[in-house]
Amino acid sequence: MIPDEIFIKIVRSAVRSPSAHNTQPWLFAKQDDDLCIVPDFSRSLPVADPDQRELFISLGCAAETAMISARFYGYRPTLQINALSRDCPINISLQKDDLIEKPALFSYIKVRQTTRNRYAGTAVTHEDITALVKVADADRIRFYIGQNEIQPFGSFIAEANDIQMSNPKFVNELIHWVRFSKKEAMQKGDGLYTSCSGLPSFGRVLGSFVLRNAVTAGSENKRLLNQLKKTAVIALFTTPGNNPENWIKTGMVFQRFALTAASLKLSHSHLNSPCQITEVRDKMRSYLGLKGEFPQLLIRLGFSHKMPDSFRRSVNDVIIKPKK
Ligand SMILES: Cc1cc2nc3c(=O)[nH]c(=O)nc-3n(C[C@H](O)[C@H](O)[C@H](O)COP(=O)(O)O)c2cc1C
Repeated sequence: MIPDEIFIKIVRSAVRSPSAHNTQPWLFAKQDDDLCIVPDFSRSLPVADPDQRELFISLGCAAETAMISARFYGYRPTLQINALSRDCPINISLQKDDLIEKPALFSYIKVRQTTRNRYAGTAVTHEDITALVKVADADRIRFYIGQNEIQPFGSFIAEANDIQMSNPKFVNELIHWVRFSKKEAMQKGDGLYTSCSGLPSFGRVLGSFVLRNAVTAGSENKRLLNQLKKTAVIALFTTPGNNPENWIKTGMVFQRFALTAASLKLSHSHLNSPCQITEVRDKMRSYLGLKGEFPQLLIRLGFSHKMPDSFRRSVNDVIIKPKK
């Protein structure tokens, strides 16, 4: 039986994981020696993520963090994915092991963040790319280096953003998850805090007005294409299939990648829209010659300064209490 205090420490690390719109769509249960990660579908994004693809990627991120944390606290994790199980799609058995090596990535769980500012444009070294390649099977992450390889992504990003931003339901869902002030972000402990994107604190009424009227597909595209010009490397995560098990595994690889990037002092952020809109994803896939592979995450990498961190809910809100 894992002691309660260790279980809570592992969950506290796992909730620091990234999730789409910072929805934190996870619940954790302790069952004897097992840690079970369960989706919280009440936190899904029906418009932006109708297949719950990104929800399962987020769960994969939490699973990876939980396993790194378990090793740090002297427990050997064994993972079982049964993605279609409602009760326990991700089961991590934990065995005490005093000889287990403490993982170096543990220290970066708190340091990692999605950094959405403009990067310096400085090249990433070959050694750093090699370290990032090692976090996954070579065919799971593809790297596009230098402006000649990076610029073609601009048209896919712009096309997908146009589709999303011209959908009022997408904008409404986004506004629902934006936290327009520090007070709101702290109280809710979730969502997209404006300061994390370098935006001022408007308050909800003014903020919603600005987002609905001043932030357009055009302004978003301009901002993202400017960011692309200063991006040193793009990483594309792909999977051989397109189902919940593949998505969970993408999340695990992505979280190892993000923690490794943090250890190398490299910033990263998402340019996922071409992976989110099926017709754009298929065009991008054929442009890149990715037969039989599904693009899941598109990530830019580079050097920049840190941004404010996003907030998290308390562990008490995400632990399923055992039935008496
Ligand atoms: C599956 C997934 C999809 C994401 N998509 C986007 C995105 O399209 N744009 C973006 O800016 N951030 C995206 N993010 C980053 C989240 O918004 C971020 O993880 C969350 O706000 C918590 O912030 P943190 O990563 O700094 O801890 C995504 C994260 C995940 C796991």
